[in-house]
Amino acid sequence: TPSDLQSILKFTVDLARTSGRLILEGSEAIQAASESDVNEKKNSVDLVTEYDVRVEELVKKEIKAQYPAFKFIGEESYAAGSRPALTDEPTFCVDPIDGTTNFVHGFPFVCISLGLIYKRRPVLGVIYNPFLDQLYTGIKGQGSYLTSRSGSPRKLPLSSPKPWTSLSQGLLAVEWGSDRSEKTITSKSNAFGRLAGNPAQGVTGGKMAHSLRSVGSAALNFALVAQGGLDLYWEIGCWAWDVCAGIVIAEEAGGLVTGPHDAFEATVSSDEFGDVTEEILTGRKYLVVRAIAGT
Ligand code: IPD
Repeated sequence: TPSDLQSILKFTVDLARTSGRLILEGSEAIQAASESDVNEKKNSVDLVTEYDVRVEELVKKEIKAQYPAFKFIGEESYAAGSRPALTDEPTFCVDPIDGTTNFVHGFPFVCISLGLIYKRRPVLGVIYNPFLDQLYTGIKGQGSYLTSRSGSPRKLPLSSPKPWTSLSQGLLAVEWGSDRSEKTITSKSNAFGRLAGNPAQGVTGGKMAHSLRSVGSAALNFALVAQGGLDLYWEIGCWAWDVCAGIVIAEEAGGLVTGPHDAFEATVSSDEFGDVTEEILTGRKYLVVRAIAGT
């Protein structure tokens, strides 16, 4: 019920803030360490640290204590082989540190992303960036909010979207992701070039975007579209925990999320990046996300 979700939100916000303190502590330790304590997952750009695992363990333990019947899907548990099937039961879907590469490098766009799925749909989201002390929250049907530096919550979007029908009025987020195969890099480079207005690709003046951004955290890209700082975020290759909280926050702010919401089951080819065209942009703040269970 709506009041159940309010009480779960309060618990989740407290958990995000507690986790944020551990993330900040981890960042200091990593920046001060003389030797790198960073591990590689599938290749040399897919990074994981001891703190990704520690934050997830903390979150998992607190959720189990408070909501023992809830299921749990987390990035690091999944990597370690705990892969519960998605059911109709309430399920927390968590990325303990989204923007791990930023975390390792000390680039302050890092967050914890805590989403709740019920009946296979994201219904509640909390995204917290402890470096900037920015907290984004959303409940399906009850709006989404930004609380900055412990001030009062402000309803999202912060300013109403101006109607726009063309990429030429947009600030767009794209990400390179960690799949650096030739096929993916070529396809993304071509698409990014088109969006940036590469004349060699036949882009004429009015069709180029104002600019492209890469924040380095899928969840914060969602949050920034919800806030109104970005007009669109496109990515292929996200996992469920990257997008679960962001879907609620962005949709509640009037954004449109496309892509499979049951991200665990779906697969989408990287060739589809070529489909990002003006035709899918009509008059609102748009957000385009492809969520897939990567390889
Ligand atoms: C990644 C980040 C990155 C995005 C990837 C995500 P992680 O999450 O959000 O910006 O491009 O798709 O997997 O590995 O930092 O938790």
